[in-house]
Amino acid sequence: MAYENLLIHTDGAIRVITINRPDQLNALNRATIAELDKALDEAEADAQVRVLILTGSGAKAFVAGADIKEFAHFSVAEGQALSADGHKKLFDHVERLNKPVIAAVNGFALGGGLELAMSCHFRVASDNAKLGLPEVGLGVIPGYGGTQRLARLVGKGKAMEMIFLGSSGMVAADEALQWGLVNHVVPQEQLLTTCMELAGRIAKNSPTALAAAIRAVNAGYEPGTNGLQREIEEFGNCFGTADFKEGTSAFLEKRKPEFKGA
Ligand code: COA
Repeated sequence: MAYENLLIHTDGAIRVITINRPDQLNALNRATIAELDKALDEAEADAQVRVLILTGSGAKAFVAGADIKEFAHFSVAEGQALSADGHKKLFDHVERLNKPVIAAVNGFALGGGLELAMSCHFRVASDNAKLGLPEVGLGVIPGYGGTQRLARLVGKGKAMEMIFLGSSGMVAADEALQWGLVNHVVPQEQLLTTCMELAGRIAKNSPTALAAAIRAVNAGYEPGTNGLQREIEEFGNCFGTADFKEGTSAFLEKRKPEFKGA
């Protein structure tokens, strides 16, 4: 389908979704969140797509946050609905997608932008990237998962400090790398090719096993879920898949596997 705020490009097994509001630094308004919700569903349903890359349009920003212009006059109830709706349609949706999602952080990742990057399964940043959670300077707190996912990724103390400092707590790409907030930092012109190269290597593996790995890793971060127990179940279920038969047969026959994703 055609999107107003997104660009979608598919190269073999890799789909690149680009948030395309560069004049607003790709700020997430409700229309963009709704489109991302649809684009994620489409990617999940398309068997050709095995890995996703999420990025922002232009050289300046990945996403500079939730659209402040849109929510500036919201009531308590509207604020709560905004957060709940965002969690469901976008942030939890990305995190729970059954295909790996890489964030290509090509500039500012602030507020909802950093929260979106943190919902992705891992992050690669360009050397000009700046990451932070400025919300407290606006009189709100991170409302798209930032209070939870940042602490999980970098530890509670660093998360508290970044959140408390607001816009003055922004970190550059190299510091984010030291913290483990991003996995790699590359020159901006190499960002997409680096992500494509990683995605291509991931796409060679079993889609059913990748989906199971996402569920198992995520389970460890769900309160009330026993991650190791979930791993046992997911591991066992893999033995019933055609991909497992193909992967093990290919190894024994000394050939490359061709996974069908079943
Ligand atoms: N929501 C809505 N609009 C935003 C936005 C956001 N989160 N971030 C940037 N924009 C808009 C600006 O309002 C401006 O639009 P305009 O030309 O219609 O006025 C345009 O994007 C360019 O941004 P500008 O502020 O002029 O760029 P800059 O280079 O001077 O500053 C930032 C860049 C990222 C430091 C600055 O835009 C900023 O602080 N943005 C808000 C970050 C934030 O607090 N995010 C958390 C939201 S909860």
